[in-house]
Amino acid sequence: MCGIVGYIGKRNAQSILVEGLKKLEYRGYDSAGIAMFTTDGLQVRKAKGRLAVLESNLETAPLEGTVGIGHTRWATHGKPSDVNSHPHTDGSMKFSVVHNGIIENYLELKEELIAQGHRFVSETDTEVISHLISREYDGDIVKAVQRAIRHMRGAYALGVLTEYEPDRLVAVRNASPLIIGIGDGEHYIGSDIPAILEHTRDVFILNDGEMAVLTKDAVELMTIEGNFISREMIYVDWDVARAEKAGFDHFMLKEIHEQPKAYRDTMRGRIDEEGRSVILPELKMTANDIRAIRNVHIVACGTAYHAGLIGKTVLENCARLPVEVDVASEYRYRSPLITPETLVIVVSQSGETADTLAALREAKRCGARVLAITNVVGSSVAREADDVLITWAGPEIAVASTKAYTSQLIAFYLFGLYCAQTLGTQDAAWIAEVLAALQSLPEQVENMLEQAETVRAYAEEIAQHEHLFFIGRGVDYAVVMEGSLKLKEISYIHSEAYAAGELKHGTLALIEDGIPVIALATQSALLEKTVSNIKEVKARGAVVLGISDTGHVAALGKAVDHVLAIPATHPLLTPALSVVPLQLLAYYASLARGNDVDKPRNLAKSVTVE
Ligand code: G6P
Repeated sequence: MCGIVGYIGKRNAQSILVEGLKKLEYRGYDSAGIAMFTTDGLQVRKAKGRLAVLESNLETAPLEGTVGIGHTRWATHGKPSDVNSHPHTDGSMKFSVVHNGIIENYLELKEELIAQGHRFVSETDTEVISHLISREYDGDIVKAVQRAIRHMRGAYALGVLTEYEPDRLVAVRNASPLIIGIGDGEHYIGSDIPAILEHTRDVFILNDGEMAVLTKDAVELMTIEGNFISREMIYVDWDVARAEKAGFDHFMLKEIHEQPKAYRDTMRGRIDEEGRSVILPELKMTANDIRAIRNVHIVACGTAYHAGLIGKTVLENCARLPVEVDVASEYRYRSPLITPETLVIVVSQSGETADTLAALREAKRCGARVLAITNVVGSSVAREADDVLITWAGPEIAVASTKAYTSQLIAFYLFGLYCAQTLGTQDAAWIAEVLAALQSLPEQVENMLEQAETVRAYAEEIAQHEHLFFIGRGVDYAVVMEGSLKLKEISYIHSEAYAAGELKHGTLALIEDGIPVIALATQSALLEKTVSNIKEVKARGAVVLGISDTGHVAALGKAVDHVLAIPATHPLLTPALSVVPLQLLAYYASLARGNDVDKPRNLAKSVTVE
């Protein structure tokens, strides 16, 4: 995910910016750049690739100055390239901007600015901001920024410089984090704490809708409307390793907690303002193309395959199309019946998984249209597919996937509803009801995360066991498959996920006294059936944890030993909530066993061999 650093003070800014960017490398990036005031005016150096490329450019043509901004970019709008890297400038090279986040209405603004004579060089949303600020400037950079952001919709953390006022650095935060570091005769901005921790531990944390104006001797904090505010300074007592994880002990836990943001970011700009329909302007497929689809194949590996299983239910319910789901390593070798009327959806966090890419190529060879759901702009899968839906989860560092999986679910919900409204397979009231529930998910996940300690206590208990079972029906079965995989990946406890009704056809033989069984039962229509299956395992000595929503938990509670409630939502959306306690369960079980949570043995984050 993009990173911001900024400096204003008395030392040479170049090395402070580059070193700050190095501290942000862990966030993942594909290009980097800095802008500084020099005796030759505002100068920018930027380059695609690792920071070493930028450093070597700076060795050839170093910058001298005491004010600057820097950025590591993780591509969102436009592929990774030198020209799309930040900082961006306006046409006159008098204004320079670094930006984290997404400007939803950038295309609209870009057209307006082009009509007013502005010329653009990149594909980014950020370049629009530098032009907007330049347009609004009449001698006061703070007022120009305030006016510019009134035109912008979306999420942004900004660092802004203008050559006209070289003694000021302006920072803005709206739904994308930004902090201000306080030094002695020098000040800093950072998208997160590691960027500046080497220089200061005294920080102000900006809230959404706030901005800061930094000079070398002072920092003024104000709302974006210009009302001054006072804020208590925070002393950061974390070490760098913890700071990289935003205070969490592991990336996995941080990423679990980032899910509400990942949900919001994946939905951002894709639902109309009244909440009645889905807008997916990035899709090239037309309504007629959607009408021509006769069947859907979803192909993926690992956790992404599990997202595909939920995708099947979503698309079958929303679009009333037959859907098959395959693990990518099997797909090519079973001679799948692919026709030009088949939509093949490949799902991949990295967009680089060899088997998924091979399946995509096979599908295209057979004439199918391919839609990629991926987290990485410019990845191989994104480049080769006909259509791409990006999941805006941000880079995922922990090997065990969490926020990427749940963002894939959000992408399936959006695409499913989009097909429903295009095909008329569901009425407008149903679509609006699901959309309303979808938009409540981030807050519901936030509430659920507050229960982490309850899950922790249970996880510490199961960490003592070598085997356990997960059961569920319908989408719950697909979710427990993911829960079981998560547990295996990082705790090394053997577990199996079973369709609750299938257990008695063999696996029941493995149930003995004290064996833990986790039963997920969120679907009213299936609750009684699942309760019967719970009774079957309890009669053979299993100790059962039942998970259901607040509406059904009382009924389930009577049949189980432990119970956990999740918030109630539309039946189709329960996976986006019910997987969260299972992720936490795996995390805390791994922790209790003293394992390396973020880097489990034998596994790789991205598997680029078949
Ligand atoms: C690896 C990772 C899994 C991931 C799978 C697919 O096995 O360890 O977490 O689900 O690859 O990766 P993708 O990047 O294609 O989603």
